[in-house]
Amino acid sequence: MNYREEMKELRDTLNAHGYRYYVLDEPTISDYEYDHMLRRLEELEAAHPEEITPDSPTQRVGGRTLSEFEQVTHPVPLESLQDVFNDDEVCQFLEKIPLDAPVWSVEPKVDGLSVALEYRDGVFVRGATRGDGRVGEDVTENLRTIRSIPMTLPEKLPRLIVRGEVYMARSVFQEINDRLELEGKPLMANPRNAAAGSLRQKDPKITAHRDLETFIYAVADEAPLDVHSQWQFLEWLRSCGFSVNPNARRCTSAAEVHDFCAEALAHREDLDYDIDGVVVKVDSFADQAALGFTARAPRWAIAFKFPPEEKRTVLREIRVQVGRTGVLTPVAEFDPVFVAGSTIARATLHNIDEVRRKNVRVGDTIVVHKAGDVIPEVVGPVLELRPADSQEFQMPTHCPRLVGNPQDCHSLPN
Ligand code: IVH
Repeated sequence: MNYREEMKELRDTLNAHGYRYYVLDEPTISDYEYDHMLRRLEELEAAHPEEITPDSPTQRVGGRTLSEFEQVTHPVPLESLQDVFNDDEVCQFLEKIPLDAPVWSVEPKVDGLSVALEYRDGVFVRGATRGDGRVGEDVTENLRTIRSIPMTLPEKLPRLIVRGEVYMARSVFQEINDRLELEGKPLMANPRNAAAGSLRQKDPKITAHRDLETFIYAVADEAPLDVHSQWQFLEWLRSCGFSVNPNARRCTSAAEVHDFCAEALAHREDLDYDIDGVVVKVDSFADQAALGFTARAPRWAIAFKFPPEEKRTVLREIRVQVGRTGVLTPVAEFDPVFVAGSTIARATLHNIDEVRRKNVRVGDTIVVHKAGDVIPEVVGPVLELRPADSQEFQMPTHCPRLVGNPQDCHSLPN
């Protein structure tokens, strides 16, 4: 076998094992064997750089550094979905679809970063963020470092653009934040921000170390595929080597769709990735085409958005912070809880009026969430669980460290 053939064989073998490892999560060889083959390929590529191909697994470690991201006008605009916020609205959508026996493809709505991946003649050529749906940013080099994105496809379609979500697993997010904390660096707010920040790195080598993952779920252009439904399309994507969410479900009745939504909401915590809702799509592509689009979104799909995640914890203290200008800010300190992707233990209560309005007392069991999925916030107390001896909070009128020495005591501004 000459070096050209050996290189091709190594590439194909490594790509097949990479697929088993990164997409299927079922490796059949040890990391050691994989690394050994990769080393051999690297040696051959160093000796014959003219033989390096874009689909080589060595090209995923992050090539050139970018000065800024180029804007990309999407060849086909990337529509978003109409949002609904409760069961009744899901029901209305399902009932209004003018089909006799509709079948639905129901998919978790992964809370990541929406991207479009473009393949020409079966080769990955460009990837862009969704941006505003018309214009996004070219993040091709960074996407190349994500192992679950195939660089070549078995079918050599002249052009194919698929859509999906780039996300960071919660476990990875937690590890990175733990490390940042040890290093005394600012923490990342949640896995979505972390994924977005990692994908928009000017240096793809950094992206390569962030272990980003993908779920692909839609086709953006009119590629002539021999598939006739969303469900078949998801299968087709799998057969091409894309990572497809295993938790999607084909439903044949409104009751099944409702059950899926309820289960997804109840079990969102059990997944290793954040979801912020459920996407419900008419399964048949012919029916989708007949239903068409409004000015803003398809008529054949909706996004059922979950209410922001809420958790219970116990309020241990209301600490008063003194700002630079002397303003006093009460801050709730509670037992650490994991909410919307990260652990929180405090939230500002802004001022005394807000403490009164929220009616929270030290010792209360409180409900907390993250406003805009980022900022920790106290929602309110669980009054049934209020301890009998709890006291209403009072703002201090004197600086506590001076108590005991009344002559020096300064009045504090209100
Ligand atoms: S379908 C034309 N499926 O939610 C239909 N979207 O507003 C295109 N998303 O921008 C979208 N998971 O970023 C679809 N399984 C899924 C999804 C999904 C997450 C995001 C996507 C889109 C937004 C919908």
